[in-house]
Amino acid sequence: MKIAVAGTGYVGLVAGVCFAEKGHNVICVDVDENKVEMMKGGKSPIYEQDLEKLMQKNYKEGRIDYTTDYKMAYKNADAIFIGVGTPEQPDGSANLSYVANVSRQIAESIEHDCLVVVKSTVPIGTNDKVEQFIKDSLVNKSIKVEVASNPEFLAQGTAVKDTLQAKRIVIGTESKEAEKKLIEIYKPFNLPIVSVNRRSAEMIKYASNDFLALKISYMNDIANLCELVGANIEDVAEGMKYDDRIGSNFLRAGIGYGGSCFPKDTKALKYLAKQYGYTLKTVEAAVDVNAIQKTRLYKKATERLITFNGLKVAVLGLTFKPGTDDLREAPSLDNIELLLRQGAKIYAYDPVGIENFKKKYPNEIIYVSNPEEALDDANVCFIFTEWNEIKSIKPEIYKKLMKTPLVYDGRNIYKLDEMKKAEVEYYSIGR
Ligand SMILES: NC(=O)c1ccc[n+]([C@@H]2O[C@H](COP(=O)([O-])OP(=O)(O)OC[C@H]3O[C@@H](n4cnc5c(N)ncnc54)[C@H](O)[C@@H]3O)[C@@H](O)[C@H]2O)c1
Repeated sequence: MKIAVAGTGYVGLVAGVCFAEKGHNVICVDVDENKVEMMKGGKSPIYEQDLEKLMQKNYKEGRIDYTTDYKMAYKNADAIFIGVGTPEQPDGSANLSYVANVSRQIAESIEHDCLVVVKSTVPIGTNDKVEQFIKDSLVNKSIKVEVASNPEFLAQGTAVKDTLQAKRIVIGTESKEAEKKLIEIYKPFNLPIVSVNRRSAEMIKYASNDFLALKISYMNDIANLCELVGANIEDVAEGMKYDDRIGSNFLRAGIGYGGSCFPKDTKALKYLAKQYGYTLKTVEAAVDVNAIQKTRLYKKATERLITFNGLKVAVLGLTFKPGTDDLREAPSLDNIELLLRQGAKIYAYDPVGIENFKKKYPNEIIYVSNPEEALDDANVCFIFTEWNEIKSIKPEIYKKLMKTPLVYDGRNIYKLDEMKKAEVEYYSIGR
């Protein structure tokens, strides 16, 4: 099938590449000329395992191409997937202007009947509006356009695997034809399909993301209480995970969730509920707990240190999680802002996130290419991301390299007794 994909970020590019890998003919559209040039040259604009390899393979075999020329891409497509951003607005609502722009461009371009599929995470009811908007803006009113919802559940860092081996494909349609076409597109993936109406599909996405955010905030809340009552959150999680009703994933306490999805999707659902006069108390609690959790480590450090002014601070990990170069809403950002305000001399290490971080802090931070350089003669160390390169640092290294072996670990990488044995003063979360 001829598929066009609008937006080549984490969702659009991965979807496009995986559709091509499964035999479809794909054209990926982006407004960013630099990205398109990069992709044509076989380079991925984002860091995702296996992505570049599959981009090169499918480009070489003629199943995928990239363009900024949306008219050419959309005019003959059988299906157009929308994967552009829906970022948070200051009031918490989702910014739908990118989705609206693509919808306008589709209406301008298509020359025959077409299925438009919204992959972006959008508030409930948006698919209805997209369909109406395209119909209203169509130049040739005899063309039949239908909109379907197909929310994306991939996680950054494992995006390709999560797409090719997704646990389920959710499709939301309002007609048998649209359902049939989407099922046909996904047939080569051979995955379970959950077929519902459009509004339920839109809600499945928010309900899933917000549930995960809630689970994280719940464990962080319990972790904070563990510290007060002398329990250990790692042991508590170990004891919880055997219960199938609870599940063994997402039980790790830390410095809160970040990334491009959980923060905005919790706030967007909270906002949507309010529009209907409903207060989503559970999700509100998750948002509140997370806001406090993100700078908990910094606050702990201020209880121990009179100032950060003039101190060498080693920062290990910048991205919001391992496996990605994405910094959106990363806890490192909140903490580094506070440290800089206090006059800390920050030496930061991250295996892939430095280039993106430099865009925000080009001169204020010293970036180093290995953890040892950051730790050398440092007064204090903060761990914000559990990259393997950071997890593999032996406890003795902190003692050996740092001026004062004082470590604040937001990811509970080390066991308490091993740090104690190495004579490292060690603070973590919930233990
Ligand atoms: N990132 C994730 O892990 C993830 C997971 C599931 C769902 N989602 C959702 O998917 C959507 C996209 O997220 P993302 O992280 O991939 O976004 P992103 O910001 O990484 O990428 C969006 C891309 O769209 C491009 N774009 C903007 N306007 C365009 C237009 N008119 N035509 C073509 N391209 C255009 C931008 O240049 C950019 O490259 C969001 O709604 C997000 O909530 C994201």
